[in-house]
Amino acid sequence: MRTLTVHLAERGYDIHIGRGLLATAGHFLPLVQGRSVVIVTNTTVGPLYLRTVRESLAGLGVRPLEVVLPDGEAFKNWQTLNRIFDALMEAHCERNTLLVALGGGVIGDMGGFAAACYQRGMPFMQLPTTLLAQVDSSVGGKTAINHPQGKNMIGAFYQPRAVLADIDTLNTLPDRELSAGFAEVIKYGLIRDEAFLTWLEANMAGLRGRDAGLLEEAVYRSCAHKAEIVAADEREQGERALLNLGHTFGHAIETGLGYGQWLHGEAVAVGMVMAARLSHRLGWLQETDVKRVEALLSAAGLPIRGPNLGAARYLELMRHDKKVEGGVLRFVLLESIGRATVCNVPEARAIHAAVEYS
Ligand code: NAD
Ligand code: GLY
Repeated sequence: MRTLTVHLAERGYDIHIGRGLLATAGHFLPLVQGRSVVIVTNTTVGPLYLRTVRESLAGLGVRPLEVVLPDGEAFKNWQTLNRIFDALMEAHCERNTLLVALGGGVIGDMGGFAAACYQRGMPFMQLPTTLLAQVDSSVGGKTAINHPQGKNMIGAFYQPRAVLADIDTLNTLPDRELSAGFAEVIKYGLIRDEAFLTWLEANMAGLRGRDAGLLEEAVYRSCAHKAEIVAADEREQGERALLNLGHTFGHAIETGLGYGQWLHGEAVAVGMVMAARLSHRLGWLQETDVKRVEALLSAAGLPIRGPNLGAARYLELMRHDKKVEGGVLRFVLLESIGRATVCNVPEARAIHAAVEYS
């Protein structure tokens, strides 16, 4: 097991990465002592891993309340969130109850938001079970639900008390979901670590073959980047915005098609190609760099062309994104491979990149 720390003073916490962690009761001990516990999961992850977590907690004398939600991005909404509140209220949970989010990014984001809101804040812990959640969403405290008009538009910054990323859970993940996770892994290489990108290029076949050592290394290196960025800029006033590479285009695709049609990682992959194309237009990236981005995403099993939503619809959707400031579209673009920047972009250019790559 390897451990990283997110250095945020009194809100700081550890990320544990390794194999068999869900079954190791000791990892839960510091957080569950003297508390009641509620586990939030979904109908897919619950049958796979709830029993293991339940048994770990039983070893510590804890019998958790369990909330099993419907599965899917389409359920990342107010109605499902309210089911968590209903369960907490019915069980008379107190403010110091620990909420444990067991699942992918949807459960982590919703569980975290519920924890931020219930009695104005209860402690919570992330047990991410998808690659995407292990490398990105479980770390950093962004919690949210979707609004029909915009992705993750309602939420809070609220840090977990600990993250346990059990690499073994990735064995049951469908191939398409594993690939979606690689989009966020590749993102770290593109925005700040060309050596990592080169490592991913060399090891993508083994990673897709679920070599546990390689997956642990990829999760560790990704979390190290995320922890460093979040510690420097928790509230996204600066560098953290770079983590949104490809997301303005990607969110447009997710919202435009209806949540759950394209996976988040797939939409981000295409969004990163669009951002690379736009960076090329601005004279920053070479054509060979754009091809390099496309080749790695393809090798990871990800799409590199977006759906044809039409120029007007892309523009309308992108204008609703959180990255819009004073009505101006702001994109994360690549100055070179391994170096990103935030840039105001004239609408026509952004649209061109989106439409050209649909
Ligand atoms: P997800 O949570 O929908 O999980 C994907 C699918 O895999 C689901 O069907 C889930 O039930 C299933 N699953 C989860 N773990 C499994 C396992 N071990 N074995 C088998 N099936 C398993 O999707 P995701 O890709 O994990 O997360 C995407 C969400 O994360 C989006 O809503 C996105 O907005 C959010 N996100 C948040 C942040 C953040 O910083 N908070 C960052 C990136 C993405
Ligand atoms: N996933 C983007 C962020 O955490 O800032």
